[in-house]
Amino acid sequence: MQPEKVFVTRRIPEKGLEMLRKEYTVELWPGEMPPTPDELLEKVTGAAGILCLLTDKIDAAVMDAAGAGLKVISNFAVGYDNIDIHEATRRGIAVGNTPGALTEATADHTFALLMAAARRVAEGDRQVRAGKWRSWEPMGLLGADIHGAALGLVGFGRIGQAMARRAAGFGMKILFHDPNYQGKDAQPGNAVPSSLDQLLSESDFVSIHVPLTDQTRRMFNQETFHKMKAGAILVNTSRGGVVDQSALYGALKSGHLSAAGLDVTDPEPLPMDSPLLTLENLVITPHIASASRPTRERMAVMAAENLLAGIKGERLPNPVNPEACRG
Ligand code: DGY
Repeated sequence: MQPEKVFVTRRIPEKGLEMLRKEYTVELWPGEMPPTPDELLEKVTGAAGILCLLTDKIDAAVMDAAGAGLKVISNFAVGYDNIDIHEATRRGIAVGNTPGALTEATADHTFALLMAAARRVAEGDRQVRAGKWRSWEPMGLLGADIHGAALGLVGFGRIGQAMARRAAGFGMKILFHDPNYQGKDAQPGNAVPSSLDQLLSESDFVSIHVPLTDQTRRMFNQETFHKMKAGAILVNTSRGGVVDQSALYGALKSGHLSAAGLDVTDPEPLPMDSPLLTLENLVITPHIASASRPTRERMAVMAAENLLAGIKGERLPNPVNPEACRG
């Protein structure tokens, strides 16, 4: 009998691929760009498992194209807004993700963006390269202090808490808002729970750590920005859809927000004619917060483990929809 087919939508670290190849026939998408929707439909045909990325939209059509033998969808990411979970669950298809693997790397990068936005690192780099560094200037490229400032964390899951631990080292005062937070004892970084409005009005920096859901889509909009302290800095490494980008453009252009750091946008990549790219007070990276070698390797192993368990009909080590797991 032919081993079952697994479709992997992009090259991931070899360690994860090897785990799959030992047991199944792995079909690996060879392109540097994601498969188009049509290519995805063609390639998943007959797959028992799909290992996909956040760039792949996995909806009912993809599940139909895979066929009745599809047992598991394993996302190479902690976020899973690219997958129709309801549809997968309805069909008894297990979905897995990679929580924990990228917490520290993502918090590291978030802090890098926070610091770069506050201290105008990218702007300074551009000035040097453009030959505009003429002299040491008492009033040149003045930014915001990070030490001693107030940091508001919107979302206090793993990554929000990892941010709090870092911020404590900078002597920041930390507020957090998270209706789902269950912790009762001392919070990481002595973070203090807060209403969203209080957090917005008191924070010098606001960092977003919520998943993209119907509730959080465009949660940061004109009204939200209006509630933020004048001169505050926004950082987003969660999902671009959480922020209304035209409202963000307005808040940055007017100077109400002094700067922003983004690792995520909507859409991705950000079109080159986006007004955001005209702003000097925006530092932006191409969704790389989890892009450290060890982190991506851990994500590959976790994604492979989920996929292997799902094909065998076992409970996934990291299930998104445990009710659909057969084990
Ligand atoms: C995730 O895992 O959801 C991240 O966005 C990838 O960096």
